[in-house]
Amino acid sequence: MRLSVIGCGYVGLVTGACLAEAGHEVVCTDIDRERIASAHKAGRISYTADAGDAIRAGDAIFICVGTPPKDSGEADLSAIDNVARQIAAEAKTPKLVVEKSTVPARTGLELSRALSAYSKNSGVKHRVASNPEFLREGTAVFDFFHPDRIVVGVEDPSAAAELREIYRPILEKTFRCPVHNGTCPPGHKAEFLVTTINSAELIKHASNSFLALKISYANVIADLCEKIGANVEEVTHAMGLDARIGGQFLKAGLGYGGFCFPKDVQAFIHLSSKVGVDFDILKATERVNKQRIDRFFEKIHQALWVVKGKRVAVLGLAFKANTDDIRFAPALEVVKRLLEEGAFVQATDPEGTPRTKALFPQAQYHEDPYQALQDADAALVCTEWEVFRKLDWDRAGKLMARKLVIDGRNLYTPQAMREKGFEYYSFGRE
Ligand code: UDX
Repeated sequence: MRLSVIGCGYVGLVTGACLAEAGHEVVCTDIDRERIASAHKAGRISYTADAGDAIRAGDAIFICVGTPPKDSGEADLSAIDNVARQIAAEAKTPKLVVEKSTVPARTGLELSRALSAYSKNSGVKHRVASNPEFLREGTAVFDFFHPDRIVVGVEDPSAAAELREIYRPILEKTFRCPVHNGTCPPGHKAEFLVTTINSAELIKHASNSFLALKISYANVIADLCEKIGANVEEVTHAMGLDARIGGQFLKAGLGYGGFCFPKDVQAFIHLSSKVGVDFDILKATERVNKQRIDRFFEKIHQALWVVKGKRVAVLGLAFKANTDDIRFAPALEVVKRLLEEGAFVQATDPEGTPRTKALFPQAQYHEDPYQALQDADAALVCTEWEVFRKLDWDRAGKLMARKLVIDGRNLYTPQAMREKGFEYYSFGRE
């Protein structure tokens, strides 16, 4: 099928590239000409700065533009409205307009109404569908080709049939997998779910918010374990063995960050209150998440006593491993507070340094973690990078001014670190 992708950000680039890999002709466009220039590649996928060209090229148009939060927490939908106007102006034939951006419920129906209004003169009737993505940063291509489910929210069955056709290579595994070099491990079959548009939009928010809730739940359990003298990993491991709970997203620590969970939880709380539903447990999820930093600083103050004038190594800046993304990263709040308290910050991250440097030029940045640990009075682990998990702490201990590690991601075992002579603190473990 001929497909168009509008918006070449994180979701649009991955969606366009993977649908081309799956065998479709794809034209991508973005208002950011530089982004288009850097994305050019041969074959089934092409990039154009001319939105009109892209709109006319596809039978189905995937809208992947950003929906950033407004100050109120509500999602800003103006980019989607702009695309609707462009489609109405440029498309002379009916299109299937597929909303892939994360949007609050009822956006699809609003989009459908807007498209009819904007296309009144041309009389062209476009159809709208919602197709939420569940891609994680760092594993997006894997997630696209190996989804647990493909959700399509539609107003009419023909739209569902077309989307099933678009995803047929993934559903029937007839694509050549770029992750597994053509031979995916057996098992795992994605489910194709057809719902209403409102349900599809809600599924996205409900899923992300529930994952965030799970993390905050594990973090409160960690606080309890510290008070009671239990081990959060023993507790969450046992919880996770119950198939009704599941072991994923129960890792206690500094809390969740990134551009999805914080924004989606806020948007969901906002949407709920707008329709008179008080989503208390999500407010608690957000509050618990924000308090992780306070918990972390309680440990820092307990161990370091006075922070002012201390040399502190910060291991990890990105919101999680395997990405350069620092948006809403807990580490940023840690660096900010350390600097406010007068510490000398020596930070390191395999990918997140350039963007952090722009925010906190007064900190020091090192590519080599051992340089960041040089003469440090303490080391704070903020992101679960493999390179930090594999650090040689015997070597690091000789470089540091004090063998003190405060582990915000429970990367190491307390016993192993203490046997190496470290003062070691983490979340939910003694
Ligand atoms: C998330 C969703 O997983 C994905 O389905 C959706 O499409 C976009 O948002 P992403 O933001 O890339 O993906 O990050 P994810 O891997 O989900 O991690 C989110 C945050 O939670 C990270 O800061 C991570 O460190 C933290 N986390 C994750 C925990 O603190 N504990 C856990 O057990 C898991």
